[in-house]
Amino acid sequence: MVSLSSLLLLSSLLVNPVLSTKTTLDPDTHRELLLNGRPQIGLWKSLLKEQKLKDEQALLLSTEKNAQQPFLSSTKKELFEPHCFPQRISHFDDTVNGTFCQRYWINTSFYREGGPVFLLDGGETSGKDRVPFLEKGILQILSNATNGIGIVLEHRYYGESVPVKSFSTDDLRFLNNKEALEDSAYFIENFKPPPSILSSSSSDALHPNNTAWVYYGGSYAGARAAHMRKEYPHLVWGAIASSAVTHAQINFPQYYGPIQQYAPEGCIDTLQTAIELIDHLLDQPEPIPRYLKGLFGLEELVGNEDFADVISGPLGYWQAKNWDPKVGSNEFYNFCNTLTAGGAGSKVGLIRIPASIINYGKYIKENVVARCPRSEGKPASDIEDCFGTSVDSKFVETDLEQTWRLWIFQVCTQWGYFMPAPLEGPRIISNKLTLEYTSKICRQAFPPGKHFSVPEWPDVEEVNRRGDYEIEYDRLAFIDGDRDPWRPMTPQSDWAPRRKSSVNRPVHLIFDGVHHYDENGLEDHTEEPPRIKDVHALEVSFIQEWIAQFHEQKGR
Ligand SMILES: *[C@@H]1O[C@H](CO)[C@@H](O)[C@H](O)[C@H]1NC(C)=O
Ligand SMILES: *[C@@H]1O[C@H](CO)[C@@H](O)[C@H](O)[C@H]1NC(C)=O
Ligand SMILES: *[C@@H]1O[C@H](CO)[C@@H](O)[C@H](O)[C@H]1NC(C)=O
Ligand SMILES: *[C@@H]1O[C@H](CO)[C@@H](O)[C@H](O)[C@H]1NC(C)=O
Repeated sequence: MVSLSSLLLLSSLLVNPVLSTKTTLDPDTHRELLLNGRPQIGLWKSLLKEQKLKDEQALLLSTEKNAQQPFLSSTKKELFEPHCFPQRISHFDDTVNGTFCQRYWINTSFYREGGPVFLLDGGETSGKDRVPFLEKGILQILSNATNGIGIVLEHRYYGESVPVKSFSTDDLRFLNNKEALEDSAYFIENFKPPPSILSSSSSDALHPNNTAWVYYGGSYAGARAAHMRKEYPHLVWGAIASSAVTHAQINFPQYYGPIQQYAPEGCIDTLQTAIELIDHLLDQPEPIPRYLKGLFGLEELVGNEDFADVISGPLGYWQAKNWDPKVGSNEFYNFCNTLTAGGAGSKVGLIRIPASIINYGKYIKENVVARCPRSEGKPASDIEDCFGTSVDSKFVETDLEQTWRLWIFQVCTQWGYFMPAPLEGPRIISNKLTLEYTSKICRQAFPPGKHFSVPEWPDVEEVNRRGDYEIEYDRLAFIDGDRDPWRPMTPQSDWAPRRKSSVNRPVHLIFDGVHHYDENGLEDHTEEPPRIKDVHALEVSFIQEWIAQFHEQKGR
């Protein structure tokens, strides 16, 4: 083992953002395309390629400019700079002993000696996307209320916290729950604030023996928050698990339930009727299916399943809603408005195509298909490139830009959450979306390696044996949104045992809430809508009580 003191020295070094030349899609595009685990990987890759060209041109331009003005810095200084914690590549595999830089962002401006540390787990995205929660969201709110420190910790493999040289099946073998849990534990146990940030405190003042650490996570990271509190109670004094998916499940058609239940009724009725007819038309002999696809701008797309997958894309916008329109997307309602706009239908042979399908097609053509970059002279293959899944070779690139592989790998190995159509009842997605089809990517993208093979089906037991729907602990809070499509996988699912809220085991369901609605905040908190002010006030009140308990127990 490398000695700890030499590791900790490193932690005060800033990660230099200028050194990073990795091209990434802007977070909105990235999130949108990877929403709910059914990525349009081909489109994602085409857009990445375009972005790369743009980046290269921009870099060329800026170096030319800098040559003329040598003192002008080419990168804007961000308010928050990431720091580097030397993390072990593996906590369990003795054949690899190195460390990598796990990034974190910290703010100590509210801190007074004896105050707690709030650690926000970045989960399955770049930690940078979570920095707003430090500036004006949950970390800032709780730190201000308790004189605490806020930290965003990037998850291994995401953003720039990458311990490997590729995202091949073998190199992804350290991306799992056990390693990620141990990362957080090791971080909490060994964290020393960079002297430039906090110089006065003694060297072990922030050790969990002396300071209350409170873990926060939303969604996947919410499950981690619950697991951390239960499995490392000596390190994690309290935890808030927001939209915490503590129940993993291979087959997850229930994702669509809350959308059907809570989205505008007229929109859902129209969609259900349209989907039924679309499935009927797809079952007819050619040229009817091709004609139908043509209405969506997808005439050249070969697979009926791929077609069904592309047209289900807008449903992901339900999850992307947020009470703050600047953070979330209202696109779901634009989709509904287009779908239900009425108008004239059309006719193919003896079959009447209603206006809803024409409108649906127009929406997909203009908002999804139009984003597929077309090269001169070969439009057909471009559509298949963007949206087809029949060719395995499309999914085998393993360089570090293929970040779509990360969450999919976690899905394929441990979490499941494939979202096929339900086998009975009204549907808002096509019945061509089967479990077989929605899990096909696992076999296409991750051929067996030398050190690791993806199991035939995800080992969801690895998650569920950590507590599942029943997980509970003192000073572990569950916050959910009533109409979150992920609520069926949380301890506040309709299938989970009912809970009674208390200060030590708080549970709260945000009315008209979707996915981790408590995580973000406004600069001026008094401007937040009442239901968000309420949940923040609730969190402040139980956290203050938990911190008081800490001081009482430590005799201070
Ligand atoms: C920390 O937060 C405070 C208050 O929100 C802000 O003024 C300050 O700039 C932040 N500190 C850093 C290092 O970004
Ligand atoms: C890693 O460390 C362990 C324990 O010190 C040692 O047994 C092993 O040989 C080391 N592995 C490598 C690849 O250096
Ligand atoms: C911190 O909390 C106090 C008391 O609620 C509030 O008046 C103040 O505006 C907050 N500060 C920030 C920077 O949010
Ligand atoms: C923390 O407390 C435990 C239990 O009292 C003790 O064994 C350990 O040495 C302490 N660690 C530090 C760094 O103070």
